[in-house]
Formats: sequence, structure tokens, C-alpha cells
Amino acid sequence: MAPMSLVTYEDVRPWAKAIRERVITRQMPPWHIDKTVGIQKFKNDRSLSDAQIDTIVKWVDAGVPKGDPKDMPLPKQWPDESKWNFADLFGGPPDLIIKSPDWTVPTVGLDAWYKPVIPTGLTEPRWVRAIEIHPATVKGRKVTHHALARLQQEDPELKLAASSAADDADAGGALLGGLFMEWAVGKQGEIMRPNSGKLMLPGSKIIFEMHYHSIGEQITDHVELGIYFYPKGQEPKYRQTLAALQSVAGGSRNIDIPPESTFVSQNFIPMRMAGRIENFQPHMHLRGKAMSMEAILPSGQTMMLSHVNNFNFNWHNNYVYSDDVAPLLPKGAILKITSWYDNTANNPHNPDPNQWVGFGDRTVDEMGHAWVNITYMSDEDFQAEVAKRKADTQIAQQQE
Ligand code: HEM
Repeated sequence: MAPMSLVTYEDVRPWAKAIRERVITRQMPPWHIDKTVGIQKFKNDRSLSDAQIDTIVKWVDAGVPKGDPKDMPLPKQWPDESKWNFADLFGGPPDLIIKSPDWTVPTVGLDAWYKPVIPTGLTEPRWVRAIEIHPATVKGRKVTHHALARLQQEDPELKLAASSAADDADAGGALLGGLFMEWAVGKQGEIMRPNSGKLMLPGSKIIFEMHYHSIGEQITDHVELGIYFYPKGQEPKYRQTLAALQSVAGGSRNIDIPPESTFVSQNFIPMRMAGRIENFQPHMHLRGKAMSMEAILPSGQTMMLSHVNNFNFNWHNNYVYSDDVAPLLPKGAILKITSWYDNTANNPHNPDPNQWVGFGDRTVDEMGHAWVNITYMSDEDFQAEVAKRKADTQIAQQQE
């Protein structure tokens, strides 16, 4: 999906200057987290180290020498496009694949939101250990701006456990609870941490929500949701839920950005149960500039968890914390989400700085939330997880 191939020397040569610029500014590879603050260990970090950037810059400055072809490594073998990302890990395609009906995006047209409801067909409860969602074809990726899958089921237990995130997140009325999975450019899917899972109940339904966008070519496509289950009888201890944590006080409907101005807002979400924060995935549109997630502990101490200082709407990177650093927060902690917007001509992505901007689904309107998976746990389990983390850290330090 990138504008060019970077497989051979001949492919790369004409792009050398652009590559130099993109890697120095850390626009490429796409990974827009501020490296100077917050957690820096992620499961899916594709960024370059300072030394790697240095090597590329020196090579370009030296006139892009080809070197000795004998030393050339073999071209990278890319995975088969039609295969599921986790197929090799789990030994085959997902256990359950749910497809949305085909949708035809016209050559020219307004953005469309398609929300079909598809029964899962489940007749017994099943625990989910990995989920993937993607447009069915490579062409479909061009027109599918994002795809959401909500899980609709009668679930009194979840209502209690997840209320800390879901209710407060919905303060602006923009997003409903019960989210299951979300797809946007740059996101690969989701594997639950050990002993954690999402629970699907009999009679459940998937409510898809696809945002389709015309690109000057008629394309018909659908979205596929692939689910890997834990084996029957194997029940993970912890239940994980996906929440859209609002970054704007009172909800996204309070976004109010006059022409030629900047805007910042923040929101505070209390943890009504202890839990582990699994990831950070900021979501804004074209005026989005930065978003951060901090934790305020019951003691009053504030910790920066993550800050995306270089938000780019073309990318919806999901920053998934490594097992040994995923924040463990006690009941009563508060998540503080802040988002910054730039509606001036300084923002290169701004389609029109003369427009007032408010909340809306269209990319020219704005939003502000972070997709965050939270694994809730009892206070007892929380204490045990904290003790285990301490012990593991000590062992790791001794081994170093
Ligand atoms: C060291 C690794 C990488 C380098 C040197 C690199 C280089 C570049 C350059 C120079 C451009 C600008 C092209 C233009 O001016 O039109 C670009 C754009 C792009 N690249 Fe990369 N890239 C890297 C990694 C990646 C990865 C891992 C992905 C996909 C996951 C990707 C996807 C894209 C896409 C979709 C665009 C166009 C949209 C945009 O500019 O954000 N690139 N890349």
C-alpha cells in the first residue's frame, strides 16, 4: 500500500532523498510515539534506532553507493497477502470467520457508513485468544477507511466490570460500549496476553461499522473478522475489554475549534476496578496533532504512560505494551487523556484552516478518543500481579 516498492537497489535509488527526510523526521517507518517520555517497550515496535537512522543518512549523504552486489542480502520474502496474520502462530485460519455483506464503493461519492448486523452463530460461551479484522481484498484496503466490530450480547457481568471505561467514554454519546475489535491502517490484529481473553456468549451478534471512502475507482469489497478461540474447557482467568476513552472533556461533541486556531482538551476516566492497560491507540482526524495518556494514582502521583507527539491521520498505529511494562493500575487510579488539535495553515494535513471544526464522523470533522484494551481484575489478583511483576523485574535485573 506504500507509494513505492523498496525491495531492490533500483527501487530505492530514486527515493533516497525522500527516505533521508522521512527517517530523520521519524515519519517512516510509521511509529509516531514521543521517544523522550513514557513507556518505550512495545510488542510491535517497528521504529528505527538512532544508529539505524544514522546509517541511512550517511549512506544517502555519501551518494547512495550500491556497494558490492556480492554482499547484497536476499530480498525479503513477504507473507502471502491472502493469509491471516496469525495463521502460522496458531496453525491455521481462525476458528470463526464472520463476513460483512459486499458493499460497492462508487468511483465518486460521499463517504458512507455501513452497519450490518451478523449473528455469530455461537451456541455456547467461548473465550477469545486472538482477533483479526481486515478488508477482504488488497483493493478493498484503498476504500475502507476503518472497520469496527461491536459485540452485541446480553452480558450483566461485563456491564459491571467495564463500566469504568465504557460509561465514561460514552459521556459524549459518540461511542457505545461493547466494542470488540477495530481495524484501521497500520493495525495487525490483537493477541490476548497469557491467561486473558474476551468472552463471546451464545446468541451474540457482531455489529459491523465500515467507513467507506471513494477513491476514483469503483471497488466492491467486504470485511472479514477472524476469531481464534481458547480450546474448549480452557478458561482464561482475566477478561479484557476494549474501550474508546474520550480525550475531550464531556465527550467529542464538545470539540469546538474556530478557524485558524488550535485546541486542547482533556478528560479524566476513573478506574472503578483495578486493571492492566494493554495498549494505546490515539484516534483523531485531520486536525489531530498529539495525544497523551497519563495515569494519576490514588496517591496523587502522575505518570506519563504514552505520548504520540507526531500524530498523522494516515496512520492508526496501535502501541501495544510489552508484557513486563503494561501498566498495572489500582482501583481508584484515573486515566487522563489529552488531545491537541491544529486548525491553522501550519498543519500540513489541514484541508481548510478557514473552517470551524466540530465533532463528526467525516474525516474533515473531528474526534478525540484512544482505543484502549483494559484487563480488569479483583484487588487480590491485582496485588498478586504487582508482586509477580516485581519478582520478574528483579530476576531480569540480576540476569543483566
Ligand atoms: C525504513 C523503512 C521505511 C522507509 C525508508 C520508508 C520510506 C517512505 C517514503 C520516502 C515515503 C514518502 C513517499 C512520497 O514522497 O510519496 C513513504 C510513504 C509511505 N510509506 Fe513508508 N517507509 C518505510 C516503512 C514503511 C512501512 C513499514 C510501511 C507500512 C506499514 C510504509 C507505508 C507507507 C505508506 C502507506 C506511505 C504513504 C502515506 C504516508 O506518506 O504516510 N512505509 N515511505
